[in-house]
Amino acid sequence: MVQTGPSVPDGQLADVLPPTADVDADGHLSIGGCRLSDLADAYGTPAYVLDEEGLRRQARRFRHELERRWPSSRVVFASKAFPSTAIYRLMAEEGVGADVAGAGELAMALAGGMDPASIIVHGNAKTDAELRMAVEAGAGLVVIDNFDELDRLEAIVTGEQGVLVRVLPSVHPHTHDAISTGQQGSKFGLPLPEAAAAISRLRLSDHLRLDGLHFHLGSQILDTAPWAVAVERVAALGDFDVYDLGGGLGVTYTRDQSCPSVEAWVGALTDAARRHLPASATLVIEPGRSMVARAGMTVYRVVSVKRGEPTFVAVDGGMGDNLEVSLYGQVFEALAVDDALATGPPVELVGRHCESGDRLVSGALLPHLVPGDVVAVAATGAYCFTMANNYNGALRPPVVLCRDGQSRLVVRRETIEDLLRRDVPTTQAAKAPTAP
Ligand SMILES: Cc1ncc(COP(=O)(O)O)c(C=O)c1O
Repeated sequence: MVQTGPSVPDGQLADVLPPTADVDADGHLSIGGCRLSDLADAYGTPAYVLDEEGLRRQARRFRHELERRWPSSRVVFASKAFPSTAIYRLMAEEGVGADVAGAGELAMALAGGMDPASIIVHGNAKTDAELRMAVEAGAGLVVIDNFDELDRLEAIVTGEQGVLVRVLPSVHPHTHDAISTGQQGSKFGLPLPEAAAAISRLRLSDHLRLDGLHFHLGSQILDTAPWAVAVERVAALGDFDVYDLGGGLGVTYTRDQSCPSVEAWVGALTDAARRHLPASATLVIEPGRSMVARAGMTVYRVVSVKRGEPTFVAVDGGMGDNLEVSLYGQVFEALAVDDALATGPPVELVGRHCESGDRLVSGALLPHLVPGDVVAVAATGAYCFTMANNYNGALRPPVVLCRDGQSRLVVRRETIEDLLRRDVPTTQAAKAPTAP
C-alpha cells in the first residue's frame, strides 16, 4: 500500500493532500501510486482524481471511532458530497449507509448497490413522487421536515414507514451563511415547539413509526461546541430510539488551517449524547464533506499565463467544476504536479469562464508555470463533482479512482453530444403543451 511519502513534509500540507499522496525525489506528485501528470495525459483535464484507499480509510475511521464509543450506531454518508454510483458502492462495501436528498440521489444510491434499509431520505421540499419512491424502495428512514410533508407521507404509506423528525435546534454553527442550517430562521426542520407538535401527531399515526429525531447544523464547521448545545436542546423533546446528529465536520483545505479530527468530533458528539440522551438509543452521524473532501484532487492543464501585477495562470477548468470558491469563498491549495513542493511568488490561479469571480486559488504560491503544465487543486473531493455544471458549454469532468498504482475511470467526461442530447431540434420543436 502506498503511504504518504517521506517527501511530503509532515504537518499541514500532508493534512490537505489525500492520505496516500506521495512526492518522489523529482517532485512528481502521485496519489494511490498513480502520478497525477500521467493521469492528466491518460484521462485529459480537468479531471477529478480520488484516492480510493483514502476514501475507504476515512469510512472505516468514522465507523471505528463511533462504534468504539457508542456501539449502537450507524455512519451514513451524506451523499450530496459526491453522488456517484462508484462512491455509493464503495461506501456500501465499507458498511456505511447513505443520506439522500431527492429522487436523483435515491436512484443513484440504489443503482450503486446501497441496501435500501440503510438509506435515510432528506429534503425540505420532497414531492409526492419522491416520497412515494422512497417508500416503495424500502428506504429505512424518511426525515420529516414539515407538517405538509407529514400529511402527504401519511396519505402515501399503506404499511409502516420509519421516520425521524428534523428538529431546528436554533444553534448557530459559525460557518458560511449559505451552508449554515441549524440557526434560528433556517428553512430546514421544525423549531422545538413545532417539533413537539409533530411528535404528538406522529405518535397517533397508524402508518408512520416515529423512531427518533434528526438535526443538521451546517457544513465546514470548525468547532465541536455547537453539537453539544444542539444535543442538549433536542434531548428536551423526550426519549427516542434514534438520534441522527447530522454531518458538518469541517475539513483542512489549506496548510495554515486546522479543524477538529474525526476522533475529536465523534468524541464530542458521544460525550454530549452520554450526558443528555438515553444510553439505549442508536446514534447516527451523516458526514459528507469530511468523508470525501481530502481524498479528491482536481487536475488541470495550464492554458495561458498573463504575467504582470498580478500574474494570471489560467487553466482549462474553473467554475464549471468547482463552485465552492464562488458560492462560499472556500480557499484551496494548488500544486504544480511535477514540482509539487516548489513554490513561487503569488499568482492568481483562474479558470476559463466568463466571470472575474472565476478564480480557483487567489495568491497561489506556485512555481514558474507555462502553458501545458499540470496543476492540481487539493481537497476537492466534496461538493465539486456534485455542483459541476455546463457554464460556457464546459464538459463535466471525468472521475478517476486510484489505488495501488492502478487507476480506473468511474465517470466518463461529458461530450458535446451529451450537451446537445436534451435539446429539441428547432426544426422539429415541440409545440407548447396546451392547457387541459
Ligand atoms: C441533512 C444533512 N446531513 C448531512 C449533511 C452533510 O454535511 P457535511 O457535508 O458538511 O458533512 C448535509 C449537508 O448539507 C445535510 O443537509
